[in-house]
Amino acid sequence: MVDVGNRFEYLLGIETSCDETSAAVITQHKVLSNIISSQSVHVQFGGVVPELASRAHLSKVLPIVNEALQNAHITLSQLSGLAVTCGPGLIGALLVGLNYVKGLSLALGIPYAAVNHIEGHIYANFLNDQSLPFPFLCLIVSGGHTQVVLIRDHLQYQIIGETRDDAAGEAFDKVAKLLNLSYPGGPEIDRLARMGNSSFIEFPRALMKSDQFDFSYSGLKTAVMNYIREAGQQKVGAHLSDICASFQRAAVEVLVKKTVQAARTFQIRFIALAGGVAANSLLRNWMREEAAKFKLQVFFPELEFCTDNAAMIARAGLQYLQQGDFSPLDVNAFPSLRLGQFSQVTS
Ligand code: KG4
Ligand code: ZN
Repeated sequence: MVDVGNRFEYLLGIETSCDETSAAVITQHKVLSNIISSQSVHVQFGGVVPELASRAHLSKVLPIVNEALQNAHITLSQLSGLAVTCGPGLIGALLVGLNYVKGLSLALGIPYAAVNHIEGHIYANFLNDQSLPFPFLCLIVSGGHTQVVLIRDHLQYQIIGETRDDAAGEAFDKVAKLLNLSYPGGPEIDRLARMGNSSFIEFPRALMKSDQFDFSYSGLKTAVMNYIREAGQQKVGAHLSDICASFQRAAVEVLVKKTVQAARTFQIRFIALAGGVAANSLLRNWMREEAAKFKLQVFFPELEFCTDNAAMIARAGLQYLQQGDFSPLDVNAFPSLRLGQFSQVTS
């Protein structure tokens, strides 16, 4: 691998894998701009409509890039590298960002790195010069993924546990929908739970006795659904924050206990959180408390870098570009790309 040192002064990252169009300019040490445009067109449908997402990315990508450059006080010609998400995600949405970046790479004569979205979430922990020692264990919890990954060095991933059904964020969103809360439901449940009694209902914690590190959220979701049906609208309305707090405690306890147990089993001293659910206040606090009991240290990204954003994609891309790993122009978009799979796809 070629070491190209500090050649990459200004990097532009693009993220279009789902319903956020985002562009960011970073340097090796700092995020200079991070523009995120969330598509409101899906609200009326209660979920993301893929074709509408692709169209919205098409109309947004240029203005968002211009805004990112303006906020960073640089021009296109000052860019030295590019990074873009190539999967997992919605195929049409991914292709908008990927093709835009390929075109820019050709036009400007600068290299680009195609990045796995989940890898981007992990690298949110390295933004703004945050230093995270290797080896560390990363709990990735987003709307689409729940994984515990052992990371011994840059870009080296060993998945040691993952969800067998729903992702943690998906469970938050589905429960929020059952409670008639707005989408995405995670932040709403987090907010309401702060006012509630988390011991109000004992919801189930799945696979807790297992000495493996897999997760399951479908049973918890069904338990909440059954509770709502049996309790009836009036009781649910009167105890909304208690239900949110009880659900959140069950959902988060599994994440905390299993991740800390995995760190102890693999004798890893550092834990990092990543993904949208890493913004959850209970998860952040509880993980710190539980880890401290075993003298483990916990890291998490700044709040704005937990949910989907282009700065994290740029930071992961920087890692590839710095080691001379430039993506070829025939890279495709991969809707079901797995962590660590990308090197096999490109070589
Ligand atoms: O990483 P992300 O922005 O998109 C995916 O890659 O999926 O994660 C979005 C997920 C949603 O399910 C959202 O409800 C959840 O992250 N989320 C939260 C919080 N903020 C976002 N879940 C719990 N508590 C939060 N504060
Ligand atoms: Zn994401």
